[in-house]
Amino acid sequence: MHDNWKCRYLEVTTALPAGRASLYGFGEHTKRTFRLQPNDTFTLWNEDLERSDLLDRNLYGSHPFYMDVRPGGNAHGVLLLNSNGMDILYGGSYITYKVIGGVLDFYFFAGPSPLAVVDQYTQFIGRPAPMPYWSFGFHQCRYGYKNVADLEEVVAGYAKAKIPLEGIWSDIDYMDRGQDFTLDPINFPVNRLRPFVDRLHSNGQKYVVIIDPEIKRQATPNEDFFLKRNGTNVVGRVWPGEVYFPDFINPRAVEYWAQKISEFRRTIPVDGLWCDMNEPSNFGAWQPLNALDDPPYRINNSGTHRPLNNQTLPVSTVHYNGVSEYDAHNLFGLYEARATHAALLKDTARRPFVLSRSTFPGAGRYVAHWTGDNSARWDELANSINTMLSFGLFGIPMVGADICGFRGNTSQELCSRWIQLGAFYPFARAHTERTTERRELYVWESTAQSARKAFGTRYRMLPYMYTLMYEAHTTGAPIARPLFFSYPQDADTYGVDKQFLLGRGVLVSPVLQPGATTVDAYFPAGRWFSLYDHNYPRTVDTRTGKRVTLQAPVDSANVHLAGGNILPLQQPGLTTSAARQGEFHLLVALAENGMASGELFLDDGESTEMGGVGGSWTLVKFSCSTEESKGIITTTVSSHVVHNSYTPSRAPVIGKVVFMGLQSPAKGFTIYVNNVELKAARTKSRTSGALSVSGLSLAIGKEFKIKVVMSH
Ligand code: GLC
Repeated sequence: MHDNWKCRYLEVTTALPAGRASLYGFGEHTKRTFRLQPNDTFTLWNEDLERSDLLDRNLYGSHPFYMDVRPGGNAHGVLLLNSNGMDILYGGSYITYKVIGGVLDFYFFAGPSPLAVVDQYTQFIGRPAPMPYWSFGFHQCRYGYKNVADLEEVVAGYAKAKIPLEGIWSDIDYMDRGQDFTLDPINFPVNRLRPFVDRLHSNGQKYVVIIDPEIKRQATPNEDFFLKRNGTNVVGRVWPGEVYFPDFINPRAVEYWAQKISEFRRTIPVDGLWCDMNEPSNFGAWQPLNALDDPPYRINNSGTHRPLNNQTLPVSTVHYNGVSEYDAHNLFGLYEARATHAALLKDTARRPFVLSRSTFPGAGRYVAHWTGDNSARWDELANSINTMLSFGLFGIPMVGADICGFRGNTSQELCSRWIQLGAFYPFARAHTERTTERRELYVWESTAQSARKAFGTRYRMLPYMYTLMYEAHTTGAPIARPLFFSYPQDADTYGVDKQFLLGRGVLVSPVLQPGATTVDAYFPAGRWFSLYDHNYPRTVDTRTGKRVTLQAPVDSANVHLAGGNILPLQQPGLTTSAARQGEFHLLVALAENGMASGELFLDDGESTEMGGVGGSWTLVKFSCSTEESKGIITTTVSSHVVHNSYTPSRAPVIGKVVFMGLQSPAKGFTIYVNNVELKAARTKSRTSGALSVSGLSLAIGKEFKIKVVMSH
């Protein structure tokens, strides 16, 4: 770092074609819209504002990346690889970067499609980490679970209400006075907690705990790997009182962290870790300690141009090798994430699950993310979609908001609607602040009903979501995507952020307003089949994109499958491992031209690699096509086994295939499975063009062909 302010201010302005460029990205902020609004300033400086419900404030992570989509669908991405604080002014026809250090290191990702941009971007910053299968289940957390009995009651409450519960989480309550790697000896003693965790495990459930980066002051000798200022450890104030901060850039701190995590796991074999407070957060608003904390150009920190050390460390703090906190502040969470991921990997030899509040480009290689301390409000419900979609662009596709909101009490209606949306977040966890009334999903009959329905659908879709994880890991494609990813030529999708896609073709249209009995949804051109009643598909069939007013049942969001997609489904269950036992179904939604495609990735859900050379995994591609000749229409769905080294003791089989949108009402039809005619008794046809073929037993690892031959 230079000691000259002139070297600590960089400004550059770029030109944009006003009105033609749609921009997305720049985070982390809670935004009113997913598409960036002109005349907004985006400040990047990792901060714990103690709430994430204030619009456009700099929050926990920094992502100086945006994607630009132009009419016609051409997209490109731009990264300013710089970890210093900055203000980014988006003026509609220009972007001005005002950066308080480092260099102007720009990278351009030429696309031309949105999917190509994220592919190129994540090749550069690192592909999203594979997440374990179980992490796609539903998780319950609360700040304020009093003791082990409290946790037990919650787990029992879910079982009794028959609502899926994959993981129960402990916030800082489990710790002895807020200290990492300790247990509260009264409320969470090891002789109560350990058997509880063992029982969870034998029930196929998981236990995840929070850890904070800071280490209580007197609990530690004057180790050489804590952050320093003027040669002595920096002292902050966080949950345990006075604390030191490990410097995760220092390899000794990384080692210490791994050792502590491993020791702790010998006591309590937690399944994942939740890294909080890693901006790093430090309680209290601070006056500048020296000139560095208050540079001549004040970025709009906290929305009120606060000094850089507000709620965090003085930026004159020094890291390993003399790296300055002024330059490295925004990297703290990334380095902690990397250390935590490495520690779990080493200790478990399994695929780690780490949830991190603070992130930076590349953090997706290690962590999932949640949107922090949101509020139980309707606007927050809607805004959660914007943050979720933004993190998809940032290479962190495993993301979700605290379901039902963190701060403040909720109404049953809001909580129900949040469950209906949250069941389709890639990462689905309910979490609340300790002063709020209890609102586990079973507490009210209305939320329980929504939870059973929405999570029932999610758990059926787990094979699909997990396949999307594989796609994310190998190509950077977000799990939850904006509509323009699949319909880049349709400019009317560019502003859609009240709906989103899972993968290429599952459209989620949630209710985001109180009292609503309908929802206005945008459907790009094509055929759309309601996912809930595929025996009598309520379809939307449209030649151009159009808005449709849909009925909004009280207990579920609208979910539609685009014609052209084949969805692998399984049976619902109360845990992901139970849901994995059942047979597979294929839902084949034909496009107007009678075609469809899809894929399925399978592995044990926890191997350190996902795919890759030498691993045990299976990838199958499904395709469907339709031909017509002399009044005979033949629709054929077939599988192509790309890779098949995953061979669990019980071979996975497809038991049922449902076709939606067959070209002619399927009256006279014959079905052939691998060229052998199937008994008609195994099929059910509907005048609506849906046909279900059940009683099958097709090994997923073997290629098959199903033909539906229909005459007019
Ligand atoms: C922070 C976290 C929140 C957690 C609380 C107590 O506010 O963002 O999720 O419950 O700290 O640990």
